[in-house]
Amino acid sequence: MTDDATNDWDPESYDADTGFVHEYGGSVVELLDPQPGERVLDLGCGTGHLTADIADRVGASGSVVGVDASAEMVDRARETYPDLRFEVADVREYSPDEPFDAVFSNAALHWIPGADQPAVAEQVAGMLDTGGRFVAELGGSGNVSAIVDATLAELRTRGYDAANPWYFPTVGEHACVLESAGFEVRLARLFDRPTELDGGDGGLADWLDVFGDSLFAALESDEKEAVVSAVEDRIRRELFDAEADAWIADYRRLRFVAVRE
Ligand code: BEZ
Repeated sequence: MTDDATNDWDPESYDADTGFVHEYGGSVVELLDPQPGERVLDLGCGTGHLTADIADRVGASGSVVGVDASAEMVDRARETYPDLRFEVADVREYSPDEPFDAVFSNAALHWIPGADQPAVAEQVAGMLDTGGRFVAELGGSGNVSAIVDATLAELRTRGYDAANPWYFPTVGEHACVLESAGFEVRLARLFDRPTELDGGDGGLADWLDVFGDSLFAALESDEKEAVVSAVEDRIRRELFDAEADAWIADYRRLRFVAVRE
């Protein structure tokens, strides 16, 4: 999922190279535990696979809306699931006509800058009645730090001014944001989830290609290739599993269940 207009999203490679995003997201749907008849919003729905999973669970008496900032992702979601409702919108500006029973989000919130997180949490609180739940997973503190650190170091060596573009909070940081917006945090957990990237030896390059637009925005394609290759050299020993012929990205996730007070 995606909730960022600055990344240039390609739904084809997103599904082909990072299918694990929605596969792992299935367990976040379990945590949401959608009930028949509920109205659910899927924030940063991407290509819509988890929206469809939620739709099956809420059934015909319920409803689900998938929202994403990327028009390309929403087009793909509508093509794949023509019976479901998807909208192009930035969560910071999205205001539905009626409240939801639950707001769900998988792998989207980390695309929104930390400075905007209080506004997002308040916006979500405004979409829920008292007792409504906000259930989400995002990258947590230290997420993909070996990849980020190696990329930033390589860019800086070449004279570029680079910073981590993502919001990867600690439990305490994000719980404060939620509490200040009027939520009671019932569960918040930070955990390591080493993640095998598809694509064998090319898996890290594919991953950087799908997710790393903002890191490489200032680079011509030749130099981007050189940076990616240097990043591979820097972290191969730490993250490449030769037996599995796969890069194992150092994912750390933050999962939470928060209830509107
Ligand atoms: C993710 O969507 O899971 C993700 C995106 C960027 C960096 C790390 C993880």
